[in-house]
Amino acid sequence: MVSELVEEKAPLYPDYLPFYDPLEKVEPVGPFEHDDPGHRADPSFPNLLEKATNVVELSPHCGTELPGVQLSDLSSEGLDELALMVADRGCLVFRDQKFTDLGFEEQKRIASHFGPLHKHGWMPHPQKGPEEFVIVYDSKDDLRIRKSWARKSPIQFHVDQSPESQPPGATFFCMLESPPGAGGDTIISNMTRAFERLSPSFRKRLEGLKAVHTTANPIMRELRDNGSSAVLRRPITRTIHPVVIVHPVTKKKALFVNSSYTQSIAGWDDEESDYMLKFLFDHINRGHDFCCRVRYEPGTVVIWDQRVTQHSQTLDYQAGSRRHAFRLTPLANVPIPSLIEDDDGECAKDEGENDAESLLVKCMLYYFPSKSPPL
Ligand SMILES: [Fe+2]
Repeated sequence: MVSELVEEKAPLYPDYLPFYDPLEKVEPVGPFEHDDPGHRADPSFPNLLEKATNVVELSPHCGTELPGVQLSDLSSEGLDELALMVADRGCLVFRDQKFTDLGFEEQKRIASHFGPLHKHGWMPHPQKGPEEFVIVYDSKDDLRIRKSWARKSPIQFHVDQSPESQPPGATFFCMLESPPGAGGDTIISNMTRAFERLSPSFRKRLEGLKAVHTTANPIMRELRDNGSSAVLRRPITRTIHPVVIVHPVTKKKALFVNSSYTQSIAGWDDEESDYMLKFLFDHINRGHDFCCRVRYEPGTVVIWDQRVTQHSQTLDYQAGSRRHAFRLTPLANVPIPSLIEDDDGECAKDEGENDAESLLVKCMLYYFPSKSPPL
């Protein structure tokens, strides 16, 4: 088997192997002023696209691949433009990146352009590497990821660390080694489109609502799966965020509830809240026409803006195959609530004039103008 042969090889990036210390603690970043780099960007992207050989849309509503661009060669202005483009397209994909081999400090420096880096409460970092690195490692020697999803679908759209009071913005995911052949893709979904797909009057019902986000469930799973070797670096984080937020740069609205961390609609009865959240999570899960799917090779870096997207892993490759990546997670602004606008007439379209029965009656009158519809 090809995968068995690959597993015989030592990991390509031993300095980035995961380190689990049940006694370790980390401090949260704490409140900070966020000046989004997208505000400073030239919207024609002259620096970001200077070396691009193509601009490839992965789907109409989400994802752009920029062949020819090296993240490590981008100037400060180029990184500002990246912030604007990723806010608009949801995610950007860069292949064959020198970024992979820059070393911890330089990798941190580039990602920090987008905000102070988050320190994770339970995911591993490298033993001799900074706490800001989140290591994603699945192999025959380390089956923690598979164990954590053993009794749950691994397809779970989420925002990384949404319970932070200032959740992440543009986030780096760098693939060091990926399973041979296909598998282990990330699915990224556009939450601006998810919101726009709802009926106007339903959208207005959601605006103004708030929801509770908490790390309680993943922390319980960490304890359940790993017992005394569980990593619990921070206490449970719990925050209330708007259900619909506005991106600080593009001003676009986006749905901001996710099935990993959003527990309830604030102030609603449990049954009401569960009903609404189930509908919204189903709506996101079914949204194959506003998402893209990114396939990895070693050296692929994907950047997604967590304020306008959600993403899910796929755990479809053979168990025991090595998949090794790291994530750097810059924090961003306090979520900006979307305000209910004056009625622009859109809601009227939901109510009466265009419902199916009214249209049927109009059709009947057209085809049978001289008599009542033959019903
Ligand atoms: Fe994630």
